[in-house]
Amino acid sequence: MRMIQDPQEMQDLAKALRRTGKTIGFVPTMGFLHEGHQSLMRIARARCDVLVVSIFVNPAQFGPNEDYGSYPRDFERDERLCCESGVDFLFYPTPVSMYLDGHSVWVDEQVLSNTLCGAARPGHFRGVCTVVAKLLNLVLPEFMVLGEKDAQQLRVLRRMVLDLNIPVEIVSGPTVREPDGLAMSSRNKYLTPQERQDAVALSQGLKQAQELFASGERDVTRLKSAISTIISETSGVVDYIDVVDNETLRPFRGFGDCALVALAVKFSNARLIDNAVLKKMR
Ligand code: PAJ
Repeated sequence: MRMIQDPQEMQDLAKALRRTGKTIGFVPTMGFLHEGHQSLMRIARARCDVLVVSIFVNPAQFGPNEDYGSYPRDFERDERLCCESGVDFLFYPTPVSMYLDGHSVWVDEQVLSNTLCGAARPGHFRGVCTVVAKLLNLVLPEFMVLGEKDAQQLRVLRRMVLDLNIPVEIVSGPTVREPDGLAMSSRNKYLTPQERQDAVALSQGLKQAQELFASGERDVTRLKSAISTIISETSGVVDYIDVVDNETLRPFRGFGDCALVALAVKFSNARLIDNAVLKKMR
């Protein structure tokens, strides 16, 4: 595995690889890797010649009172996991090299970003879109693999690629969970042992909503309150629970056989998100 820190070196290398006809697959991350990230690397590995993973804790996607400074980092462990996952190039740029003095161009998706996490975290998706557009211009991949864990991010980035004609295919991978159902996340590290137990309520709530929906429930208030009842029995505080159209992310109107339920719950030092697609029973 080769390590690359300099954005220009990354782009030169990507150009050279493309000239020789190699297919580049890309998995962007913020590091502190876990099985969720590794599952995306496996998906990418299976269909590319050259696998590039980036580790960059992107300051632009954190709000002023968020956890940029304390976001968990363990570069040596990440390096080992990347090596074990068959990564060819580990790109780990610095913030000053990604945001040059005077940086003044931003990519701002303006519809899908307004709800759910975008409403709770103003400017978050502007930071995500900008950094991912930059990473794509540096890594020049044929395809990029993203996790369904971040359902809104996935939809916003698909829209960005479509609207800006970025020549990359987006492939998505399913959410990887702990045995008790908690979605893997770098931020799970912030949980106290008691909160770790309580956090299973997120996936339990989603499962309950899936069962209700499958058995015919279409009332958004009832779907949401089934989830909030489960979460209210824990130390978690609901940031939002929403049932939305699976594609447009607009409020679900109660018609149709598919919707997306997404939630964010705050514990003392962690804000966790999760989501599930709601489908009619087959
Ligand atoms: P990060 O949170 O590190 O996640 C990197 C990728 O891993 C994202 O596509 C995310 O959806 C996926 N992922 C996280 N947890 C997962 C899980 N339990 N199962 C499956 N996939 C999972 O998302 C970001 O970083 C950043 O916003 C980034 C896209 C890198 C831009 O800075």
